[in-house]
Amino acid sequence: MSLGTLFPSLSLALYVSLCVAESVDEVRAAVRRARQAGKIVGFVPTMGALHVGHVSLMQRARAECDLVVTSIFVNPTQFGPSEDFTRYPRPRETDLQICGESGVDVVFYPTVETMYPAGHRTYVEVGGLSEILEGAIRPGHFRGVATVVTKLFNIVQADRAYFGQKDYQQQTLIRVMTRELDLPTEVITCETIRDPDGLALSSRNAYLSPAERQSGLSLSRALRTADALVAGGERDVKRLEAAMRRELESTPGVKIDYAVIVHHESLAELTAAEPTMVALVAATVGSTRLIDNWILRLPRKS
Ligand code: PAF
Repeated sequence: MSLGTLFPSLSLALYVSLCVAESVDEVRAAVRRARQAGKIVGFVPTMGALHVGHVSLMQRARAECDLVVTSIFVNPTQFGPSEDFTRYPRPRETDLQICGESGVDVVFYPTVETMYPAGHRTYVEVGGLSEILEGAIRPGHFRGVATVVTKLFNIVQADRAYFGQKDYQQQTLIRVMTRELDLPTEVITCETIRDPDGLALSSRNAYLSPAERQSGLSLSRALRTADALVAGGERDVKRLEAAMRRELESTPGVKIDYAVIVHHESLAELTAAEPTMVALVAATVGSTRLIDNWILRLPRKS
């Protein structure tokens, strides 16, 4: 689904009331006013380059909260030295327009200096979960995510924060961190939004050429294969993983990072099937890393 379909006439008029806060004090003041009026505050943290997946999070926050705050911040500490921090898209005006059209009240749009003043040296690490899967391939990535999300939660002090299931390990880690640091924000995970052909929406999909995009469809195909096998009675985790790998390996231009089935909360490897599991896949297509996941549920015995 394209943004054009969702907003056929993107108009400036609808977002004149959008408040763009660049400093911590400004966003805090807006949230304080709302709280004093007894309002529920919802928060959607993003790195911008907004797509329909982000819009769905904003709309859910809009439906459930009185004040909706979004942050747009391309967080340097979650990118490795050879990753795409400098080329990550930053379409400021379009992003603000999308926020306004999606019912956001306040956009927190800080600079790197605001979030990380010179001499910044405090980081948050979630032991174990930060080092496996995405963390093993992108060392330091989750330390950057955990640090910036903790800072954003402390700045915004929302009642609820909305994340996509698409970044499954990220939302797991944020849930654990929020619980273990007693952060008073409720973490809400919303389902992955996909294009009609199955590709999970991601800001990085914009890097894909048409041929790479076709290859990228192998990720959701691999996940659906595992789901169909489970529905058909397959209970051997290794055979399920092998089926996903076969799907990815048979697609030209796809370099697999992992294709695994893990525990849905601990993300620990499984030797035997559990009632609820999650299949996680990650691969590089051309120069773009794609990730996707699928919850696998064993049918209940009647
Ligand atoms: O998922 C993202 O967009 C980012 O990792 C997040 C949570 C906004 C932190 O920078």
